Amino acid sequence: MFSRSVARALTSSSARYFSASAQRQTKVAVLGAGGGIGQPLSLLLKSDPLVTSLNLYDIRGAPGVAADVSHVDTASEVKGFAADQLDQALEGVKVVVIPAGVPRKPGMTRDDLFNTNASIVRDLAAAVARVSPEAHILVISNPVNSTVPIVAATLEKAGVFNPRHVFGITTLDVVRAARFTAEVTGATPNETPITVVGGHSGPTIVPLLSQSKNGKGVTGEAYKALVHRIQFGGDEVVKAKDGAGSATLSMAYAGAKFTNSLLRGLNGEKGVVTPTFVKSPLFADQGIDFFSSNVELGTDGVEKIHDLGSLSAEEQELLAACLPELKKNIEKGQSFVA
Ligand code: NAI
Repeated sequence: MFSRSVARALTSSSARYFSASAQRQTKVAVLGAGGGIGQPLSLLLKSDPLVTSLNLYDIRGAPGVAADVSHVDTASEVKGFAADQLDQALEGVKVVVIPAGVPRKPGMTRDDLFNTNASIVRDLAAAVARVSPEAHILVISNPVNSTVPIVAATLEKAGVFNPRHVFGITTLDVVRAARFTAEVTGATPNETPITVVGGHSGPTIVPLLSQSKNGKGVTGEAYKALVHRIQFGGDEVVKAKDGAGSATLSMAYAGAKFTNSLLRGLNGEKGVVTPTFVKSPLFADQGIDFFSSNVELGTDGVEKIHDLGSLSAEEQELLAACLPELKKNIEKGQSFVA
């Protein structure tokens, strides 16, 4: 039981965290809801007033998570689905968030997860194509640089790919960049939003510090260390968890934050812009079909893909290192489905 002041504080902090606009009926499914990310993500989505209905699916444990989360006193309805109920879980959903698959252990790269996660993501995307082909698909499962192309190619094969509706969630890189830059500059994370472009693994993660009021003051060795920390921040968590997985709580936060941004756009709010990994024209002439940059989210998903703006000499170098690696990762995903 919360005192009135605690309840007020909780209400106002959740209002700050999730900005609500005109509400529609929005059913969201989480595939992989029983996992390290899936559980806290389901809880955060239950607290989002823009989610009116939540379908939780996993090959194990989702009905238990659903029963638990369903007691939270927000208006949305929660249902759990067992391993053989994937199609039912997807019926009528507007947004599908996918954190299904194995996480890294110390010493592993995200690409090392490909063999296991590629087929998981392909099969889930095929089910979305079959049951809810209009749904917006938000991919968390790694390696994102390859799993997003896998989802797109799977939908394409089924004849239902809509490039406005498929997103790789790179929000954790954006969240880390703001937090780490704040630590270096002494500002708050609110004052240090950083656009992060490229992909979601090591050198493909390109923070554009020069475009941030506070970030652009970081130079020399401090700049190099900050960029490295943003690119490899995930390794800090993998190492600290010592074999028990990778980021789950901060990822759930980032996943819920991106989902809220998308729902605000879908509900007609204007000016919702955030980096996300989508089918993009920006480097298509170099054979790179997917790229993360600032994207405006609208009533039909991707509304406008922003270009990168002006880059410093260091950022040009980071981008040059990103592109060939990203191209390889994307092609690996595409050829898996082909
Ligand atoms: P976890 O192992 O704790 O949970 C994964 C869940 O997926 C498990 O509950 C498992 O039963 C479920 N699952 C496996 N196959 C499934 C299928 N076919 N259908 C439905 N559910 C299935 O792993 P965790 O820590 O939750 O990580 C999940 C994924 O998210 C990993 O691939 C990880 O690398 C990735 N990740 C992505 C980040 C990003 O920034 N995009 C950040 C951190 C992790």
